[in-house]
Formats: sequence, structure tokens, C-alpha cells
Amino acid sequence: MVSTSPPPLNPGYARPAAPLKAAVIGAGYWGPNLARNFKSSPDWKLAAIVDMDMARALKLANALGDVPVFSSVEELLAETDVDAVAIATPARTHHEVALKALHAGKHVLVEKPLAASRELGLDMVDTAAELSLTLMADHTYCYTPAVLKIRELIEAGELGEVLFIDSVRINLGLIQPDVDVFWDLAPHDLSIIDFILPGGLRPEAVSAQGADPLGTGRSCIGHLTFALPNGAMAHINVNWLSPTKIRQMVIGGSKRTLVWDDLNPQQRISVYDRGVNLEKVSATADERKASAVSYRLGDTWSPALPEREALGLMVAEFADSIRGHRPARTSGVAGLRVLNVLEAASRSLENQGQNSFVADNEVLLEGTR
Ligand SMILES: NC(=O)c1ccc[n+]([C@@H]2O[C@H](COP(=O)([O-])OP(=O)(O)OC[C@H]3O[C@@H](n4cnc5c(N)ncnc54)[C@H](O)[C@@H]3O)[C@@H](O)[C@H]2O)c1
Repeated sequence: MVSTSPPPLNPGYARPAAPLKAAVIGAGYWGPNLARNFKSSPDWKLAAIVDMDMARALKLANALGDVPVFSSVEELLAETDVDAVAIATPARTHHEVALKALHAGKHVLVEKPLAASRELGLDMVDTAAELSLTLMADHTYCYTPAVLKIRELIEAGELGEVLFIDSVRINLGLIQPDVDVFWDLAPHDLSIIDFILPGGLRPEAVSAQGADPLGTGRSCIGHLTFALPNGAMAHINVNWLSPTKIRQMVIGGSKRTLVWDDLNPQQRISVYDRGVNLEKVSATADERKASAVSYRLGDTWSPALPEREALGLMVAEFADSIRGHRPARTSGVAGLRVLNVLEAASRSLENQGQNSFVADNEVLLEGTR
């Protein structure tokens, strides 16, 4: 079966002397962040920058020192030898670029979303498994100190049973030419939920509602809801049209509630010892109505979090998963779980928000890395 609980970060074996060689493909907005982190990592040598726009590739290569540049993945594979590639091109190109690199024997890191469709993502996961290569998704938030702490608190039972998750990711965003707001922003929320819940992201069905009040041709405002285990519920609100920026996730638990405000560096996480207790669970409906409800109003605390760049930890995890021959914490399969939900959300949108079933990977992916 596919493992849902990833191994610990950096398992602690001695780092080999020779760094692995990486090429970053895509030198637009996000690629330079990856390149900078590969360049400064002791695990990696940044061996090449690739962009079909050579001016962009050269600008980045010059900013980082003397890094060779190439204008296509074919040119890269023909002219230099790398162990791995990191793909930061638009989502519609991920599958084609990744397949070329995998068939050339390279390990692959792919930006979110893993692919432009579930079918293409599944092909990438299958191909990497057949060739015994690492396929990792850059679910960047999963490497932030805040999300690592949230995962730890849930795993330690500090919040109790998760009762609800409410995630808000709204701001004035770039209206993307090829994807709607769900495919652009919700991969973040979905990958975080996949990472922090012990069972991962496995809803049976999702319901999505979107709006396009400016007539751009795609949803710019999106609401996504799905059930979590034991009657709990998750809601994700993504929006490109909000003049105020909010990055907030509330995780309500039977013991405590956690609020993560990513825009508040002084207190990103607050844990509230507040909640509702149902004193008596009675057999009949009438008795239940009479059950006593009480409210806990306890302390609030804020865990100290180290200041650390997530991408530094992410590239270290990529190297460790390659060297350890194990799935990365945010593996291709994790990327596929996110695609499953996004695709179901798109179907729900077409059906005016009706529940849409989410595909299940388990049978198809038995034994994959
Ligand atoms: N992890 C995160 O937090 C995060 C943040 C932003 C973007 N992203 C993801 O990063 C990816 C890139 O987004 P962006 O905003 O940097 O895009 P961008 O358009 O700014 O840059 C993409 C670059 O890829 C190049 N390119 C396109 N196709 C190519 C190909 N076949 N071969 C070589 N070069 C090619 C383009 O010339 C361009 O320079 C997307 O998947 C996006 O979702 C992730």
C-alpha cells in the first residue's frame, strides 16, 4: 500500500562528500528561488539553468555565478550530466518536461501543481516508479516551520480529534491565463491538509463553487468543501480579487483550536485551549437536546518557531530521498492526491457545486515510491 506517513526529515546518515548535480528548468518568477537554494545547499551543485527564454536564463545564471545555461530540456540532457532536474515551468508543461527527464534517468522535482490533469500526474508517478527514480512535488508550505509544528501538534494529540479546518487564501492575485483560482492557489491548502492530517488528503467527494464577476473566463473566487474523517469538515476559500491579503488556517480540535496566521511573523501560530464540550451523549434525540453543552475558556499560547527558509529544507529532503531510496515527504503520490481533489473540484464546478467523487489512487499505485 502507499505509505501515508512520510519518514522523518533528514534521517541522519552522514552526507556523502560529493554533492548531487541539479538543473533548474524555468527561470521565471519561482525558478530563481529554487536555483538560489540549490546553489547554497551542501547537498547540491547547481549545474545548469534552463529556460526557453535565454535572456531570463542568462540573467539568473549571472546572478548566481558561473552556471551553464541551456534553452531546452533536450539540449540540457544532450550536453551535460546532471542527477536531477527541478521543474518550475507552467503547469501545462510539467508532464512533458518531467517525462523527458525521467526517461533520461534523472530524478525529478516538480512545482505545484504536479501536472495539468490527474491522468498526466498518474503517468508521471507510474513512470518514476517503473524507472526507480524519485519524483517529488515542491509543496513548499510543508517545509515551513509553522506547518511542521502544526503536523507535530496534531500527531502528538495536542488538538484532539480534528473537528474542522477552515483555510483562507485571498489577495489581489495575478489572474492566470490557463488555470482558475482553484488550480492556482488551492494546491497550497490541499497539500498542507495532506501533510498535517495523519491519514493524508483522502476525501471521498468534494463540492466546489466559483465566481467570475469580472468576466475573465475562469473562476477568480472559489470555495471548496469536503468531509474529513469522523464527521469533520474542511473548507478552503481562495480568491484573486481581494484587496486585503489573508493567509489563515483555523484547525478546530476536540481539545484545542489552532490558528495559523502566516502574515503575522511575531505570532504565526496560536493555540487556544477553548472549545465546546458535550457533557452527556444520550441515546434519544429528545435526551440529546437536553444534553448539557459547556464551553471551555482556557489559556492561549504561541509556540516558538525557528526562522528558516522552507526551500532550503525542501531541497535537502529531495537529496535525502534520492540517497535514501525512499519516497520524499511530499512525493509524486502526494502531488497526485492534490490533483485528484482539484479534478473533482473542476467537475463539481461544472455541476453547480454538486458533490463530485474523488478518484482513489490506492489500487493503481501499490508499491510506488
Ligand atoms: N511553490 C510555490 O509556492 C510556487 C509559487 C509560485 C509558482 N509556483 C509554480 O512554479 C511554476 C512556474 O510558475 P512561475 O510563476 O515561475 O511561471 P513563470 O511564467 O514566471 O516562469 C516560467 C518560465 O518557464 C519558462 N518555460 C516555459 N516552458 C518551458 C519549457 N518547455 N522549457 C524551458 N523553459 C520553459 C518560461 O520561459 C518562463 O521563464 C508553476 O507550476 C507555478 O504553479 C510555485
